[in-house]
Amino acid sequence: MKALIFDLDGVLVDSAKYHYLAWKALADKLGFEFTEKDNERLKGVSRMKSLEILLEIGGVIMSDDAKEAAATEKNDLYRSYIAKMTPDEILPGVEDFLKEVKAAGIKTAIGSASKNTPLILERTGLAKYFDAVADGTMVSKAKPDPEVFLKGAELLGVEPSECIVFEDAEAGVEAAHNAGMKAVGIGSPTTLGKAEMVIPNFVGFRLDKLKF
Ligand code: BG6
Ligand code: MG
Repeated sequence: MKALIFDLDGVLVDSAKYHYLAWKALADKLGFEFTEKDNERLKGVSRMKSLEILLEIGGVIMSDDAKEAAATEKNDLYRSYIAKMTPDEILPGVEDFLKEVKAAGIKTAIGSASKNTPLILERTGLAKYFDAVADGTMVSKAKPDPEVFLKGAELLGVEPSECIVFEDAEAGVEAAHNAGMKAVGIGSPTTLGKAEMVIPNFVGFRLDKLKF
């Protein structure tokens, strides 16, 4: 193993709450209820696909132009929230693990669907831990397609088989496998059962626990 590739939302930072608030504001405007449970369906899913799921929940039909406008409106609100993020919003245990990884000379990349990745990395101070960033601005195919993880490996100059991916979404674990990489699931074994290893979070997690 030469490199570790990390999903961002739900793995390194808890940004799901901001996605939820921004999608909920749109649902409120359109006149239907959107719950936190509904929001689970949007984790790891691209912006446009998320909107389509939201509209399906509300039974709302929209033209393509209206969808573009709604996605932009949601993103503007979302960005106003994440623009105020601080390092306190890095998930527990993450920074200690990243410090150990860097000290061990292991390469690191971000592999995230989010086009807002640079803003989050900057606001939280996480940018310094990564040698490369592959994000939603560089790929056209969403997870479970392996594109974003393959891009990460390419930017790092390592073979996919030399990478391990950290993911909180089922589609992300599948994307890692489709890239020929092993995956560590962050969350519950019920949803992430296909990963080679599942941990609840990074608290107390160390490199010597990375065993497959
Ligand atoms: C993923 C999130 O990381 O990025 C999804 O889990 C989100 O919820 C997707 O929809 C796209 O993010 P953005 O910031 O480009 O709208
Ligand atoms: Mg995620």
